[in-house]
Order: sequence, then C-alpha cells, then structure tokens
Amino acid sequence: MTSPSLTILGISGSLRRISFNTMLLRAFGEALPAGHRFVEADISNLPLYNDDVRLQGYPEPAARFRKQLAEANAVVFATPEYNYSVPGGLKNAIDWASRPPDQPFARKPVTMLSASTSVLGGARAQYHLRQMLVFLDALPLNKPEVFVAQAPSRFDENGKLTDETTRSLLEQSAKALIDWTNKLKG
Ligand code: FNR
Repeated sequence: MTSPSLTILGISGSLRRISFNTMLLRAFGEALPAGHRFVEADISNLPLYNDDVRLQGYPEPAARFRKQLAEANAVVFATPEYNYSVPGGLKNAIDWASRPPDQPFARKPVTMLSASTSVLGGARAQYHLRQMLVFLDALPLNKPEVFVAQAPSRFDENGKLTDETTRSLLEQSAKALIDWTNKLKG
C-alpha cells in the first residue's frame, strides 16, 4: 500500500535573501519522496509578539502562519544559529504560534536542519529549538540530525545544493520525517 500524500511545512529561521538555511530547506523539499507536498512559510512579515495585540485578534500574518501549521501534517525547520540560539525572528514566529486556541504545534511531527558558515554552528540553535518544542508538545524526530557545516562550499551561485553527501543526508531526513508522521498517524 502506498502512503498517503502528506503536506510538509518548511520554516526557515533566516530572513536573508541568499540564506544558506533557506537553500537547505528547499533542498529538503526536493528530497522528499515522490507524492508529498512541500509548502514554505513566510515569517518575515510577522509583527513583534505582543499579547495585548493577540487579545484583540491575531494579525493577518500570524493567523495565516497558524493556519499553515494547523493544515500541515509535519514541519521542518532550517535555522541558523544566532548568538548560540535561534534567531529572534524564528522565536517570534514560534511565540505567535504558541498561544490558544488550538495551539498548532501540539502533537505535530517536526524535524530540523541547520546550515552554518563555520564548522560547529547550528547545534546550539537546534537544541534550543528542541527545548521549545517540549513546551509546545510537538513531536520532534530524534534522528538523523542534520548539521551542515561550511555551507558556502555546498551550494552553487543559484542556491542549488551541489554536495552529494548533504543530499543523501537530506533524503534520509525527509524519508524519516515521512515515516515518523505516518507512524504517529497510526
Ligand atoms: C551569527 N552566526 C553565528 N554562527 C555560529 O556558529 N554561532 C553563533 O552564535 C552565531 N551568531 C550569529 C549572530 C548573528 C546576529 C548573525 C547575523 C550571525 C553566523 C550565522 O549562523 C551564519 O552566518 C549563517 O550562515 C547564517 O545563516 P543564513 O542566513 O545563511 O541562513
């Protein structure tokens, strides 16, 4: 029996036009097994989180982001490390998603990736992200972990992945997310 078509929502933690994490996120989308749908979220236009504003009703970009999360079967983050954690823009997006009603990360299968210009960067951001996902009651996949070091050497000038080792890891990660999501669906 073939598995049902799933919708995977991709969220980049970088707002930069030529972000390596956004390139990596798109390469993950291309590495998904055939038959599944990849959608990219845009967190660049979310206002700064303010609970007074939320109590008057979610602003349109926040409402749209929450709806995309709710409709996705699973989520993949690709995030840089900023100051040993996730970028503020990503934390802000997660804060908008985290409030009631129907908190959309609850019981959501999630995986994460990071691309770094250095050798070590990304790990500390991913572990902070995992900590947030505990509070959100999401269901992050443990492995494979994907930390792409020295990112500039792995993409061409058009932002396409050229490194076969990374492509193979993304294929394993994408397949693992699909398997994890199907397992949790029962
Ligand atoms: C960084 N960078 C960085 N790198 C790292 O390994 N550890 C860190 O704590 C930080 N901190 C940090 C803070 C800020 C404000 C910036 C702008 C950058 C480097 C950063 O992770 C690297 O440039 C990534 O390549 C950025 O990701 P994108 O935009 O290419 O996806």
